[in-house]
Amino acid sequence: MGSISCVLPILFLVVSLSISSTDGWGKLGHFMVCKITEKYLSENATRAVVDLLPPVAGGELAAVCSWADEVRFRYRWSSPLHYANTPGVCDFTVKRDCHNAKRTQNMCVVGAINNYTAQLRTYGKSSSGYNLTESLMFLAHFMGDIHQPLHVGFLDDEGGNTILVRWYRRKTNLHHVWDVSMIETAMKDFYNKDENIMIESIERNITGNWADDIVDWETCNRKTVTCAPQYASESIDLSCKYAYKDVEQNTTLTDDYFFSRYPIMEKRIAQAGLRLATLLNSIFDPSFNSINPGLQIA
Ligand SMILES: *[C@@H]1O[C@H](CO)[C@@H](O)[C@H](O)[C@H]1NC(C)=O
Ligand SMILES: *[C@@H]1O[C@H](CO)[C@@H](O)[C@H](O)[C@H]1NC(C)=O
Ligand SMILES: *[C@@H]1O[C@H](CO)[C@@H](O)[C@H](O)[C@H]1NC(C)=O
Ligand SMILES: *[C@@H]1O[C@H](CO)[C@@H](O)[C@H](O)[C@H]1NC(C)=O
Ligand SMILES: *[C@@H]1O[C@H](CO)[C@@H](O)[C@H](O)[C@H]1NC(C)=O
Repeated sequence: MGSISCVLPILFLVVSLSISSTDGWGKLGHFMVCKITEKYLSENATRAVVDLLPPVAGGELAAVCSWADEVRFRYRWSSPLHYANTPGVCDFTVKRDCHNAKRTQNMCVVGAINNYTAQLRTYGKSSSGYNLTESLMFLAHFMGDIHQPLHVGFLDDEGGNTILVRWYRRKTNLHHVWDVSMIETAMKDFYNKDENIMIESIERNITGNWADDIVDWETCNRKTVTCAPQYASESIDLSCKYAYKDVEQNTTLTDDYFFSRYPIMEKRIAQAGLRLATLLNSIFDPSFNSINPGLQIA
């Protein structure tokens, strides 16, 4: 009896871990994005975020940034909101590419970011009718997803999900390499398997190497609710230039691929974290609106 009651929870854990790691950046990627976000939230925005977080979060946004993956099958309608696909081309347009399988417009990651941003802007106003706790958890997750290049990939291969590859010796698919495997290998090779060291390294670049780029990251030219269409354009561009490049069915990916791609992955985590903070600041902190014209409602 003792051994069975030991094994069952472990089996359950293994099964639930392998399910949750098949979509979005993996749990760890989303955690890192939101940890970076927490650092850059204004006081007012932090107050609103903490107010909206569910009790299980313990006051920490990063604790619930994978919630959207957990409800993906319970809320079936939300599944297409994690990504967008193009018809095999390296540019993104909302009209052509942002819809679900039934072609309902805006049912993609870009529409979702605009949707949950608009919902959160009703915070503090008389009952909006939306569950803003869910709006916040969705927004935090989708801002991560849209920065994973292959979440804006080709329809035919489902953003790399149907491209089987080996990651060093292990069988997986290309989408999973970008969600999980590259992060795991970087953690092992460079960061002593400690996510805090990886997060700190990324943060050091935000204040150092990349400091001059931050204003560009935080703004965009489009007159839309958010800069999400631009993030999607960046992702499909990176998918073509890096993620899909030199990869075919059954390719074995090793050091050549890893060393030329992981800096892209780290920069996307940084951009997602910083941009989510800027967006939440603009939503919850009126004094931030004037600083970030790119994030205002047109
Ligand atoms: C916080 O928001 C209030 C209005 O809701 C504003 O008066 C105040 O200046 C803001 N605080 C900061 C530090 O921006
Ligand atoms: C907007 O949010 C509502 C509430 O979660 C949801 O029912 C609807 O499908 C969402 N639409 C988009 C485009 O995200
Ligand atoms: C809002 O959503 C959260 C997460 O799904 C849930 O726990 C909570 O009960 C909901 N609140 C209301 C008032 O329905
Ligand atoms: C920091 O930036 C440098 C230069 O762009 C890059 O080579 C390095 O991979 C980055 N490190 C992290 C952790 O992002
Ligand atoms: C890829 O490998 C699988 C077996 O792992 C095989 O069934 C399939 O035919 C191969 N595909 C190509 C295009 O080589």
